[in-house]
Amino acid sequence: MCSSLMATQGDEIPAVEAAAKSSEQSNASPRSSHSAPPTTAVSAEEEQDAVAPSSNANASTTRLNSHQQDGEAQEKLQRKPSVLQKAGRWVRSRLGRPLADGDLEADGVNGPAEDPDYFLEKLALGASTQAMEGGVTSRGRCHCCGGGRVSCCPPAIDPSKPFHYQWLIVVTIAVLYNMVFVVGRAVFWELDNATPYLWFALDYLCDAIYLADMVVHAHEGYLEQGLMVRDTRLLRKNYFQSFRFKMDTVSVLPTDLLYVVLLRSAVGPSSGDAAAASNSSDLLSGNQVAGSPTPFRPCGAGPHVPCPVIVRINRLMRIPRLLEFFDRTETRTSYPNVCRILKVVLFILLIIHWNACIYFAISYAVGFGTDHWVYNITGARNSSLSRQYIYSFYWSTLTLTTIGETPQPETDAEYLFVVIDFLAGVLIFATIVGNIGSMITNMNAARVEFQNRMDGIKQYMAFRRVSPVLASRVIRWFDYLWANKQALDEGRVLSALPDPLKAELAIHVHLDALRRVRLFQDCEPGLLVELVLRLTLQVFSPGDYVCRKGDVGKEMYIVKRGRLIVVADDGRTAFATLGAGSVFGEVSILNIPGNRTGNRRTANVRSVGYSDVFCLAKADLWRALEDYPEARRSLLERGCQLLRKDGLLDEDELKKAEAENESIKDKVKRLGQYIFILS
Ligand code: CMP
Repeated sequence: MCSSLMATQGDEIPAVEAAAKSSEQSNASPRSSHSAPPTTAVSAEEEQDAVAPSSNANASTTRLNSHQQDGEAQEKLQRKPSVLQKAGRWVRSRLGRPLADGDLEADGVNGPAEDPDYFLEKLALGASTQAMEGGVTSRGRCHCCGGGRVSCCPPAIDPSKPFHYQWLIVVTIAVLYNMVFVVGRAVFWELDNATPYLWFALDYLCDAIYLADMVVHAHEGYLEQGLMVRDTRLLRKNYFQSFRFKMDTVSVLPTDLLYVVLLRSAVGPSSGDAAAASNSSDLLSGNQVAGSPTPFRPCGAGPHVPCPVIVRINRLMRIPRLLEFFDRTETRTSYPNVCRILKVVLFILLIIHWNACIYFAISYAVGFGTDHWVYNITGARNSSLSRQYIYSFYWSTLTLTTIGETPQPETDAEYLFVVIDFLAGVLIFATIVGNIGSMITNMNAARVEFQNRMDGIKQYMAFRRVSPVLASRVIRWFDYLWANKQALDEGRVLSALPDPLKAELAIHVHLDALRRVRLFQDCEPGLLVELVLRLTLQVFSPGDYVCRKGDVGKEMYIVKRGRLIVVADDGRTAFATLGAGSVFGEVSILNIPGNRTGNRRTANVRSVGYSDVFCLAKADLWRALEDYPEARRSLLERGCQLLRKDGLLDEDELKKAEAENESIKDKVKRLGQYIFILS
């Protein structure tokens, strides 16, 4: 009966009828409530969508026998999306994400599947669509081969995909290797001589990675006017014109050829090519070449700094790739603060390492053991590679962190170096303290903010002399919030997101709770999204009254977690128990004609334990229902039933309202006919 009241506006009449029909069809469709949540009627088009993967995948379906067809029909039903899944798809379509074949799988209907990056896919699709629709020249643009798939587009590496990140890890390792060992081996000749063949292999493996990285760079997709460019020609052009390309080229210049030149100058111009070649191999194998007049002598048994490997210093020009890796990791990881701390620690260690190398090189230049400041290489212990490096690293750490006593410099060069080190050390120290301090503060920010809120309330209660019983209830409520991770101000955290993304996130986070709400199972996806965006979470303590009989109704509630009871005025007699997924508080806000209580609450609702309840304001509900008459009908129906049960519904009044409504319907119909005839 109440349902006819839905057509209060003339333009809604056909929609209501159509919706009623579709809901009948939906109810008639055989579906197990256990296997999949009930859905609204699904149009033939939607059904086709839902089974598209199976029907498109194999053209031989025409040869299916009837048994197979039965199976397909069954599958079709199973794959029919629930309203939550449809809401997800609806949101994605609003987000600009195309519906992919894998959508249903991604929604969990047919097991887990890799969630594609819809945003970027959409961008790619958009590019082709725009080119086709707007008549944009196709040259240099990607054309897709229909079906929404970018199958015939030239290969472009999407920087947002895992492959690109994994490749960045490989490049980062190569860059780190060069950062540590090129400088280290150039100074600590024993290190360079220790495993020449291993260094040889690693050096050229890193060079191969650098070259491959240039190929990857040249095929990295980039956004232009918000659209991803996938055309190989454009990608290459973009890379070759960039500053990055110049840096990358410098970093792979075969400066190793200088080994030969250096060697020539080391053995003197009179030596022939053969000698140079043989010396070149000596160089790599670490054998000393006698009589070298230059400092670039191969690092053999004696001290010669810098070693020829210093010519590979240009490999450090690839450091921007390392920074890119850290940026990407920081965005990808769920622990950005840990990542930031690791980054700071790594850079500090690298600076200390380089500084240690410089200290050792200066010691070599000044002369080992010539004064107290330089490294003293004499003695079995001091001449070992490990002691050379560890002492230099120790000295460098003490100087740069300015936390220890180091020997007084004696020569001008030593003084100059120590002054520069101290200045750098002050900056490094400030960076460490500042960065790590702020990171630790950030890590605790949520707890600190929560504690501040709690302290404020405690102070307030003490100031206002609130009774200890009430005060302990308030504190227990805070405890519950923190223990159940409800302390987060979700509204503020999510405020940066656009509405469709916020809705998708909200649906995902509250999926379990929303799935149980019958109203949401039946409603259209668009309404679900509208409502989900307006829900606010409230937590009620044991014994709290969510609403009291006779109060003016201003909002309705949906139980997310916990148990509530509808109680009589005595507060004990329970009429009904409400659990997760129950909806209450709607009767007084629906303006049901014939409701004897008007807009007053018809019952008391009390929380039994702690309850998490979504709250939906009356104005928000009405705004959302304006466009969804079917959902309003269902809510009104339920409200009428409750009122009738409690004898609070004036049937005459209701009938009168319905009659009025009918006459409005007739009038609108007749008006429509007149307009039709006149036109
Ligand atoms: P409202 O009158 O707005 O506020 C109290 C709510 O309790 C009411 O809406 C209904 O949603 C709910 N309610 C009232 N009576 C019952 C009942 N017998 N069973 C379940 N819920 C009820």
